[in-house]
Amino acid sequence: MSYRLILSDEAATQAVSAQLAQLLPGRALLYLEGPLGAGKTTFSRGLLHALGHKGAVKSPTYTLVEPYQLATRQIYHFDLYRLTDPEELEFIGGRDYFSADALCLVEWPERGVGFLPPADLQLQLDYDVEDPEHSRTLTLHGMSPLGRSIVATMSVDKKLSADEK
Ligand SMILES: Nc1ncnc2c1ncn2[C@@H]1O[C@H](COP(=O)(O)OP(=O)(O)OP(=O)(O)O)[C@@H](O)[C@H]1O
Ligand SMILES: [Mg+2]
Repeated sequence: MSYRLILSDEAATQAVSAQLAQLLPGRALLYLEGPLGAGKTTFSRGLLHALGHKGAVKSPTYTLVEPYQLATRQIYHFDLYRLTDPEELEFIGGRDYFSADALCLVEWPERGVGFLPPADLQLQLDYDVEDPEHSRTLTLHGMSPLGRSIVATMSVDKKLSADEK
């Protein structure tokens, strides 16, 4: 189950991340994939703000993980770009993060293969060849029963501000 969208500017990215936020239960694992600068952190920021986080959302490139304790849920935002070995996740207590009742957002999950549990939802962000400066494509892949039901809901909701391709 997949669904592809065009995010024509950052506002569209925020609108879609906010829509997805409303569909996520307290516990889920999302992989955010795509090249440098594709918009993985921007999308994560939109999700966190839509879920009630008020402050800044910085990229956890150096810290590997940034925790957010919100009123109604726990969120862990990972960026594994600088991981040299998936085992490093063990040293930072990765098992606890991924077994917690939390929403885990993981940028660069490719670097954690072998350690990371399977995702519910995989988000693939890419530069839109038509307008790479402002526009991105997003493909949502449902990888679990939860992920598939979320993708199904997103794909039938025509109130999206982004265009369907
Ligand atoms: N439609 C769009 N959606 C999201 N970001 C956009 C869009 N158009 C332009 N941008 C810009 O693209 C950049 C995305 O940066 P961001 O840090 O989110 O990427 P990233 O995928 O997390 O990169 P990295 O792999 O380095 O972590 C930002 O500078 C943002 O302003
Ligand atoms: Mg990032």
